[in-house]
Amino acid sequence: MKKVTLSIHCAIILFLALLGACRTGQKAPDVRQSSGVYQYDNEKKQAVARRAGPYFSDRQAVVGRSGMVASAHPEASRVGVDILKAGGNAVDAAVAVQFALAVVYPGAGNIGGGGFMVYRDNTGQAYTLDYREKAPEKAHKDMYLDSAQNVIPRLSITGHLASGVPGSVDGMVEAHRRFGRLTWAQVLQPAIDLAEKGVALTEREALGLNRTRSSFLAVNPDKRYFMKADTTDWKAGELLIQKDLGQTLRRIQQQGRAGFYEGETARLLAAEMQRGGGIISEADLKNYHAVWRDPLVDTYRNYKIITMPPTSSGGVALLQLMKLVEPYPLRRWGWNSDSTVQVMIEAERRVYADRAKFLGDPDFVKVPVAQLIDRNYLQTRWADFNFARATDSRNVKGGNMPGYESLETTHFSVVDKDGNAVSITTTLNGGYGSRVVVGGAGFLMNNEMDDFSIKPGVPNMFGLIGNQANAIAPGKRMLSSMTPTIVEQDGKLYMVVGTPGGSTIITSVYQTILNVLDHGMTMQQSVNALKFHHQWLPDKTTFENGAFSDETIQKLQSRGYVLEQLTNSLGRMDCILRRPDGTLEGASDPRADNTSVGY
Ligand code: DON
Repeated sequence: MKKVTLSIHCAIILFLALLGACRTGQKAPDVRQSSGVYQYDNEKKQAVARRAGPYFSDRQAVVGRSGMVASAHPEASRVGVDILKAGGNAVDAAVAVQFALAVVYPGAGNIGGGGFMVYRDNTGQAYTLDYREKAPEKAHKDMYLDSAQNVIPRLSITGHLASGVPGSVDGMVEAHRRFGRLTWAQVLQPAIDLAEKGVALTEREALGLNRTRSSFLAVNPDKRYFMKADTTDWKAGELLIQKDLGQTLRRIQQQGRAGFYEGETARLLAAEMQRGGGIISEADLKNYHAVWRDPLVDTYRNYKIITMPPTSSGGVALLQLMKLVEPYPLRRWGWNSDSTVQVMIEAERRVYADRAKFLGDPDFVKVPVAQLIDRNYLQTRWADFNFARATDSRNVKGGNMPGYESLETTHFSVVDKDGNAVSITTTLNGGYGSRVVVGGAGFLMNNEMDDFSIKPGVPNMFGLIGNQANAIAPGKRMLSSMTPTIVEQDGKLYMVVGTPGGSTIITSVYQTILNVLDHGMTMQQSVNALKFHHQWLPDKTTFENGAFSDETIQKLQSRGYVLEQLTNSLGRMDCILRRPDGTLEGASDPRADNTSVGY
């Protein structure tokens, strides 16, 4: 009995000590020098027990000397590192990881979706590839409205009409054609093996598939993909075998882009669309092409930020956010102090208002990128800010731009032994996308059409509103918030950063970078750190349990800020930081199955 009391006593002291360390502090746990797959199950338990800022958990980084892959799934990260060890470069590994995620992480990994790649080679040259989905030719502005111009619930979210023309396969073909070193067949093979031999389900994935089963059945009444033959629940550790997907991947392996956009796969996809009232045609597929775009490059203090230009809003918004807070002494104010949080929220409010007004597909609308990230313009955005009181979002509009004509995602990061770095965010949009599985081809289609502004002022599934700049038009890409980003310090690779999270992607990337640059956290601490979010409308700040101290909450509320504690979490970051000694710190998010593997 005495022994039990003593150990409870010890446990309480330890808990309080940890709590104290977390609350007061920015004091970082030492980064464990190790490599390999981290035991994320233990971390999940710890995280639930101790929720007081700044950290979600005390997960430790994975350290590699030669290469690192951080992704949403341990098998995908392993695939990436195997490719690096076989002599592949960061792009080879990234292509292999994209295809592996399409097999092992069907909730967001994909070949039926799209994404963005930011690539920085070891000479410092940067490239970005836009493989975002496009609206099909038969799409039109009011396609989700009824005759009274009201939004038809869920039409842009579930089922065949919700999909854009997928871009992921062409994106990977392009990335590999330009920068790959290994053969195309080599980088496809691991995904084929995983599809045909099966992948052991994680607890999280088993739960996800069980929860989605009724929706899979509703949308695919005569198909049995992603469920057991007897439609009972999946359990962690059971093998998910995907024979049809394996065949589709083999066609892509043998025929490259034609293995997806033409021939058997295209025929199956178009037939699926016809069966379910969708509008993607074989011609839409044949006409899809990923686009190389000039990277968006700017500075924050003495760091160079390399990020994604439109069609993502993420890069523009991230640079606006960073430059808006640059004049303020965040480091002196401290992590998530009331003043730090206040200027960050106020920056977010203004930036998301600009996003709604100005951002859209640059191939269709003129996006005033240079003006939006101009320091003089940004300075004008602070004109109505006052520390005494929260600005009212109803009074905040997108800025004035002289000469302007109005008009379940996943991220992974790779660094190879030569210092080439890839930052990719890719998505089906919602978890398991539109839930439509292409019959005979075994892959899920995206529901990315919901990222368009389906009616001016009507929020999408992330509560984001938009306008003409992001209205639907045939062949147009829908606006995105995905923010794959690379940070340089003194001309050298420093960080590779990104996350899923819909509208919260931008603010999570923002905080994760500032945590390192301004608050002295390691990459892993920054990923572990609790996060918050504001997106102009609705006018409230959501935050992870523990992200704000009682004092910060009380001060912000007294200035009129509406705060809402989330029951779920923010961000699933997969980041890599290059340390001064050249070793790589792989920092994957403890909030899910995310895992870094290094060597
Ligand atoms: O492109 C975008 O902004 C959205 N389709 C991203 C969706 C997302 O992150 C969902 N995952 N949590």
